[in-house]
Amino acid sequence: MEITFRLNGEPVTVSPETPTETLLDWLREKRGLSGTKEGCNEGDCGACTVVVTDGEGPKALNACLLFLPQLHGKALRTVEGLAPKGQFHPVQQAMIDHHGSQCGFCTPGIVASLAAAHAQGQTDHLDTLAGNLCRCTGYAPIVRAAKACESAPAPEWLKTDRSFILPKIPSGGPGGGQPPGFRPTTSDELAEIFQQNPNATIIAGATDVGLWVTKQLRDLSPVIFLNGVKDLQTITQTDSHFRIGAGVTLSALREAMKEPHPHFAELLRRYASVQIRNAATIGGNIANGSPIGDGPPALIALGATLHLRRGDARRDMALEDFFLDYRKQDRQPGEFVTGVTIPASAPDFRAYKISKRFDQDISAVCGCFNIQIDSGKVTQARIAFGGMAGIPKRARAVEAALLGQPWSLDAIQQAIPAFARDFTPLSDMRASAAYRLTVAQNLLIRYFHDLAGTQVSVLEVAP
Ligand SMILES: Cc1cc2nc3c(=O)[nH]c(=O)nc-3n(C[C@H](O)[C@H](O)[C@H](O)COP(=O)(O)OP(=O)(O)OC[C@H]3O[C@@H](n4cnc5c(N)ncnc54)[C@H](O)[C@@H]3O)c2cc1C
Ligand code: FES
Ligand code: FES
Repeated sequence: MEITFRLNGEPVTVSPETPTETLLDWLREKRGLSGTKEGCNEGDCGACTVVVTDGEGPKALNACLLFLPQLHGKALRTVEGLAPKGQFHPVQQAMIDHHGSQCGFCTPGIVASLAAAHAQGQTDHLDTLAGNLCRCTGYAPIVRAAKACESAPAPEWLKTDRSFILPKIPSGGPGGGQPPGFRPTTSDELAEIFQQNPNATIIAGATDVGLWVTKQLRDLSPVIFLNGVKDLQTITQTDSHFRIGAGVTLSALREAMKEPHPHFAELLRRYASVQIRNAATIGGNIANGSPIGDGPPALIALGATLHLRRGDARRDMALEDFFLDYRKQDRQPGEFVTGVTIPASAPDFRAYKISKRFDQDISAVCGCFNIQIDSGKVTQARIAFGGMAGIPKRARAVEAALLGQPWSLDAIQQAIPAFARDFTPLSDMRASAAYRLTVAQNLLIRYFHDLAGTQVSVLEVAP
């Protein structure tokens, strides 16, 4: 398999050793570009952040969870390439001016994140930096640096990077004698390849799959890369619904949901970090079947329909029916997720993520509520939780206890014991079973106050 991309301004063609060779290993071991650091090698610390420009523009990505074939046709800047001809990028100069670095190990990743955000005009610097750990400097000088260069013009090289993007990525099957890695460009091609190779591993954003390689050292061949399948990367809207393609990234989804479903968008802001959201897809978040994924409970509470395809056969189901048991989904060999459909509007939908840290943390509990009230009574209820069972799960006993009742704190107190019928949560390092059950019950009370207009978000009540 041969891939071509632009590295710090120069076109390069590479034959990866395996389809799952990471960009981080390649940069450091094969190219001697050791400015990009290895910290955690699992997407948490941001020391390996690089700037990748594709058709949507420049974005920050973690090189440790990026397989080389995913770069095909794109333009990459490592920290070495942010200062061509010795001319510092404005964020580099500002980091110097504002003393934004001490030991400096985290600095290349921080500079890459800030450079990508600067190019996009993004000024929520805390959000930008949520995926970059710095243990010596502290964030105040780094944020001061980011603010100081907000209005500096973006450097020229960004324009040339953009002009390099390949208009159409050629598809590629397993090359003769090469390690197998498929790169379909349409979902028809994907359907055919996956049906013929049902044991292949689909790689979408690689934010789960990447760890199977970097931490479990697994050989995943054959693999099918989804990032060239453009027709799975669209969100289409009708009067009543949004259809979200499986390949839509969490960043793109967050942007698209800001107006119609602001609480869903706010949940997505709490999803990992910018770097992870720029890579991770909603299809991957559903297909991996994690009991603590944030997408599924929100989508279930919204009443999502899941779309699946195997060869030419397509089927739809309520998303909650897809999750059968711990890590067991209703998906056949060779079948893949094509997308999910949600209503265009759900004004009473709310999503609450409970985690130990505000940023870049996996949910201990994620509670999502969508309850309709007519003439003071509950007429419809969809409540779904992550972190409360082996699968993302609807709280059907709680829903039943609320239906037909007055929408009041008294009725909610009556319904609260039903949580113990719906869920027997586990204790783990994120939370104890008792904590999870109590917090889930309290989230229903929070939802009541939220709908009544009380400020309930930590951001709203902060001084
Ligand atoms: C640092 C870090 C933080 C994270 N934080 C969060 C968080 O806050 N909330 C959260 O929910 N998750 C989090 N995750 C988990 C991860 O980001 C998500 O599960 C993500 O959505 C997976 O999507 P992906 O596109 O990267 O999937 P991949 O890793 O590419 O694939 C995941 C699985 O889905 C399969 N797959 C992918 N697409 C399809 C498809 N279309 N059809 C069939 N199968 C498919 C793959 O074969 C694989 O089994 C985090 C991960 C990391 C590394
Ligand atoms: S090395 Fe920590 S995010 Fe990549
Ligand atoms: S400067 Fe040392 S970790 Fe950030």
